[in-house]
Amino acid sequence: MTDSRRSAPVDLTPEEFAEAGHRLVDDIAELLRTLRDRPLATGESPEELRRHFDASEPLPEQGRAAAELLRSTTELLFEHSLYNGHPRFFGYISGAPAPIGMLGDLLGAAVNPNMGAWVLSPIASEIETQAVRWIADLVGFPAGGDGVLTSGGNVANMLGFWAARASRAGWDVRASGMTDADARPLRVYGAKGTHTWIHKATDLSGLGVDAMRWIDTETDGRVSVDGLRRAVEDDLEADARPMMVVGTGGSVSTGVVDDLPALRSLCDEYDLWFHVDGAYGAFAAASELAPDDLRALSEADSVALDPHKWLYAPLEAGCTLVRDPEALLAAFSYRPDYYYFQTEAKNYFERGVQNSRGFRALKVWLQLAQAGAAGYRSMISDDIELARRFHAVAAEHPELEALTQGLSITTYRYVPVDLRGREGEPEVAGYLNELNEAIQGRLERGGDAFVSNAVLGDVYALRMCIVNFRTTEDDVDLLADITVGEGRAADRDLRPDALRADTLRP
Ligand SMILES: Cc1ncc(COP(=O)(O)O)c(C=O)c1O
Repeated sequence: MTDSRRSAPVDLTPEEFAEAGHRLVDDIAELLRTLRDRPLATGESPEELRRHFDASEPLPEQGRAAAELLRSTTELLFEHSLYNGHPRFFGYISGAPAPIGMLGDLLGAAVNPNMGAWVLSPIASEIETQAVRWIADLVGFPAGGDGVLTSGGNVANMLGFWAARASRAGWDVRASGMTDADARPLRVYGAKGTHTWIHKATDLSGLGVDAMRWIDTETDGRVSVDGLRRAVEDDLEADARPMMVVGTGGSVSTGVVDDLPALRSLCDEYDLWFHVDGAYGAFAAASELAPDDLRALSEADSVALDPHKWLYAPLEAGCTLVRDPEALLAAFSYRPDYYYFQTEAKNYFERGVQNSRGFRALKVWLQLAQAGAAGYRSMISDDIELARRFHAVAAEHPELEALTQGLSITTYRYVPVDLRGREGEPEVAGYLNELNEAIQGRLERGGDAFVSNAVLGDVYALRMCIVNFRTTEDDVDLLADITVGEGRAADRDLRPDALRADTLRP
């Protein structure tokens, strides 16, 4: 240390920062330029990967020069990553990251506001408030409520859950938990396929996972409203306290949208909190291609959305919206005396589970400002149209079977021509499941296209989902060709003798 200047091992001079930063931005630009032509995954096994990066190496005693460290780390990441921004990444629900969002993360980290308290993040907190407002506007959620950005869909849903619990328990559940003299077993209702965040929410809040009533779905995959009513009635009869209904605004497997208007009516009838899990699908409410029922998310008490899915924000960014402007405060606010602020304003630490918070709002806000509402409407509609196109391509193809289509998710499978028409035979059905599981594995390792899976009753389906502004018609057409190529190869390897053409029954 000197009198005027301290030289810290983690610091960079502005000149060093500029040089390393420019180089990094150039490298990222090159990645974006070449992304389409790169393999989207390397297919390396954990053992192969560990040859390039040994996670067990101890922390070095002496550090390394930042510029060289950044260069070698960039190379490591570029050579060994899976790119969910690649135009033929169709797996799970991972949005392609928008370039301005990447830069937003850098800018946000440079200013580094602590988004817990307004006084520590004045302009940044205002930006979050506007980003949340814009999200609500985009999906048609009424102004006048409240909202907050979260790490992702799981936490966004949990905030809705805890707001429901505080509002509908009927006693001061925040103070006395489940031990209050008036406490009753709280009950939650949703379709059988409701996303697994509900396990964590019921478990961690002390309700227990058994508090969740998993309601059967109709043949169209939507939650049975009659089944739901019966479950509520049964619980009332048993002196339990029905608390909330979770409607799905785009299911994770097939993009099914529940009958949200009917769920709202049922909630009104029984005074239940109505939460919509729109982590995947809520943004589609902005598109005229989405089912009308989805737009009834505007009637919900709370909605979870995921900007890191269909707003194409880099991970992480989720969002909770609530209709009642006091609902988040009523569920989360505590004001210890060490959080005394001279300026009273909107403090986000009182509106969720985080205390110190990062500036994830900046990337979301920048992206919304860059594309505008019209830009998002058109990108989301394009994604839906492309998934529909793929369904049509699969339906036409002699070796593919198109299965479900919902929002931007299409499920399908490979069926060898000579097994067509025999899918119902137990031996063939079992083999088709094995075959398609193998195809998915081959796609995952091959690096040309990436799909995940859905289980539809007894059928193992391939599942493609588009939340990617780079995907084109050519990419979805190519996915059909790539699947068929892998399907033929896997079929050659796996077909049991009993199902070979020469032994097939006539
Ligand atoms: C319907 C639904 N809910 C919740 C989640 C969880 O979101 P996240 O992974 O952002 O926590 C997902 C993720 O795919 C989802 O599809």
